[in-house]
Amino acid sequence: MLVSGPVTPGQVSFLLGFLPVFIAWIYSEILQYQKSSSITKVHSDGNLIVLDKDASHKDDRAALLEGGLSRSSSARFRNASTRANLIRFISMDESFLLEHRAVLRAMAEFGAILVYFYICDRTNLFSQSAKSYSRDLFLFLYILFIIASTLTSLKKHHDKSAFTGKSILYLNRHQTEEWKGWMQVLFLMYHYFAATEIYNAIRVFIAAYVWMTGFGNFSYYYVRKDFSLARFAQMMWRLNIFVTFCCIVLTNDYTLYYICPMHTLFTLMVYGALGIFNKYNEYAPIMAVKIICCFLVVILIWEVPGVFDIVWTPFIFLLGYKDPAPSKADLPLLHEWHFRSGLDRYIWIIGMIYAYYHPTVERLMQKVEESDAKRKLYIKTSIVSISLLVGYLWYEYIYKLDKNAYNKVHPYTSWIPITCMAGQDHTRDLYLSDPYLAEEKLLNLLTS
Ligand SMILES: *[C@@H]1O[C@H](CO)[C@@H](O)[C@H](O)[C@H]1NC(C)=O
Repeated sequence: MLVSGPVTPGQVSFLLGFLPVFIAWIYSEILQYQKSSSITKVHSDGNLIVLDKDASHKDDRAALLEGGLSRSSSARFRNASTRANLIRFISMDESFLLEHRAVLRAMAEFGAILVYFYICDRTNLFSQSAKSYSRDLFLFLYILFIIASTLTSLKKHHDKSAFTGKSILYLNRHQTEEWKGWMQVLFLMYHYFAATEIYNAIRVFIAAYVWMTGFGNFSYYYVRKDFSLARFAQMMWRLNIFVTFCCIVLTNDYTLYYICPMHTLFTLMVYGALGIFNKYNEYAPIMAVKIICCFLVVILIWEVPGVFDIVWTPFIFLLGYKDPAPSKADLPLLHEWHFRSGLDRYIWIIGMIYAYYHPTVERLMQKVEESDAKRKLYIKTSIVSISLLVGYLWYEYIYKLDKNAYNKVHPYTSWIPITCMAGQDHTRDLYLSDPYLAEEKLLNLLTS
């Protein structure tokens, strides 16, 4: 096994941390196995396990709706002090290992994935191969995926609105999460196959993702008013823990996984926009001022020459990136970050505006639903045709531009296809869901 590059202190620390956890996890599984086989001998206790699974499933669902960790699972940890837990771990206390088997397993999985990345990327154990793209294979796999996921997750969800207490019909959490999952599969496939012919489309989907960062987070903070540090820290943790370890283990730069710093930045901006003077969020003129300020901040940083460098130079240690390609050797360290963060600099604000008007639109559409069939058909057909027409014009005159020309207009035009997609959504009556699985699994893979 040939290792490329010297082994860093970070990699050694990771391995030293991973090994005990891995051993402890294996041991806890053995303990669990012994325990369950002795229980079944006494009296069959299958029900207990089923019940337990059911409870954790409910927890998961609660977490999806809350957008954070469920209360019960975090409370379990607070009972004992960290030090006591550490001592129990080091001494391989059997009841401790059994109690925390699930956590140990998650940590072991996490570590195993990183070890796998290291072996693939930093050793020559597996030989390299060139990426090759075949449109037919690409489409075939994606269609297969659509069919499989439709078959397994076709169900109707009822997310209740905190405004009206009624079900949210359009763009509810389950749905936006579903949307995210489908796009993440596309991002992965795009990179896996190097499908350069859909570059512009991928740009739009990434913009749609950032749009949802604005949309989802705005809705959350506006309705729940939970600006607590705890929840904020949880979200930052979720967005960055995996990428942090990728950077340490693979000695890569943070900006190489630009999707993470980008979403972190825009999530922070939404948090700031709503958190500052949050007592006045209900008051429409103040909200208008806030939105205008968001635009002004973005214009100041990204459009006024020189300001970007002043703002970000202190963060070069974190966001600087040197492209190894010889043709890009002369680019400034902040070039990559400037490009990546600039592409979707406005779309999160558009997402926030949509979120703000979402209850209004929702109410209007409810009225449409309740009106007579002819009127309903008329309105729905108009929405569909207008968004199709606009979408077509965008496709013809903007989407078809070549990569570089497209990137120039992308920040100012990505809202057009996204609005069309959202417009189509308001005319759709089916709910395809269980996005949670797709999102959670793919969020991690996305950064690889
Ligand atoms: C806020 O944005 C981040 C980044 O896209 C996302 O992971 C998180 O789920 C969003 N929160 C909500 C409540 O939508």
